[in-house]
Amino acid sequence: MRTELPGWAPADIDLQRPNAARVYDYLLGGASNFEVDRVFAHRLLERAPEAGVILRHNRAFLGRAVRFCVEQGIRQFLDLGSGIPTVGNVHEIAQRLAPGCRIVYVDNEPIAVAHSELMLEDNDDADVVLADLLKVDAVLGAEPVRRLIDFTRPMAVIMAAVLHFIPDEADPHGVVARYVDAMAPGSFLVLSHGADTGQERYQALRRMYDQSSTPAAVRTRERILTFMAGTELVEPGMVWAPHWRPETGTADPLAPAVICAAVGRKP
Ligand SMILES: C[S@@+](CC[C@H](N)C(=O)[O-])C[C@H]1O[C@@H](n2cnc3c(N)ncnc32)[C@H](O)[C@@H]1O
Repeated sequence: MRTELPGWAPADIDLQRPNAARVYDYLLGGASNFEVDRVFAHRLLERAPEAGVILRHNRAFLGRAVRFCVEQGIRQFLDLGSGIPTVGNVHEIAQRLAPGCRIVYVDNEPIAVAHSELMLEDNDDADVVLADLLKVDAVLGAEPVRRLIDFTRPMAVIMAAVLHFIPDEADPHGVVARYVDAMAPGSFLVLSHGADTGQERYQALRRMYDQSSTPAAVRTRERILTFMAGTELVEPGMVWAPHWRPETGTADPLAPAVICAAVGRKP
């Protein structure tokens, strides 16, 4: 498939295969995606018309979790696998509630990073790093991270809808443990992750991602829970994303149960 490259797109991106960041952007109504991503997204929607709703619930969880962290006194955030900027970016929520909050976004998808750079041009308290979150030393040692994050003070590390793109061979549990190690006591780990519910149609979606540049690695709820090791889960524990502290007090009972969500506090 031949796709014209718009001016905002870095020259070295892979346009032959769909990519999770750009498919996610399209399903959330964004414009930073290509034909190959849109075709893929429509194939996903054919199999699971609720895909867009699922992603919006994930995004809404992220917003509530950031607000919760700010309410707990957190003023610095490291958002790993932050994605293409869209509605309710972490710095917008955190800095609106507490001006001066510091945020570093990390993503390995060049378009996500290019758009984040544009968005943050005039924001001295937020920055973005193009990096693979698996390279923990490179991420923690990156200049924007050293400049904006004080590791002696509590922070929030966010990994929303990203670890299900990391296969077990890459040792995601070991990687998360290293980020938890780096956090000061009183810090929070914010996590959401697609769960293996055993339903055939979601297995089919996972198999579709094998053809993308970001194959999916969904896990059982029990296995996802083990990512929270070294933290104490805040109420209500690990639940389906729409059920994590819903704004109205109760979650929509018909909301799809696909993405697990949790926030843990490092004691
Ligand atoms: C589904 S999006 C989630 C975006 C955002 N965290 C959210 O929940 O709304 C997943 C993001 O993770 C990024 N990603 C996947 N693997 C990554 C890796 N190894 N290192 C950094 N980012 C990664 C993708 O490029 C994509 O932007």
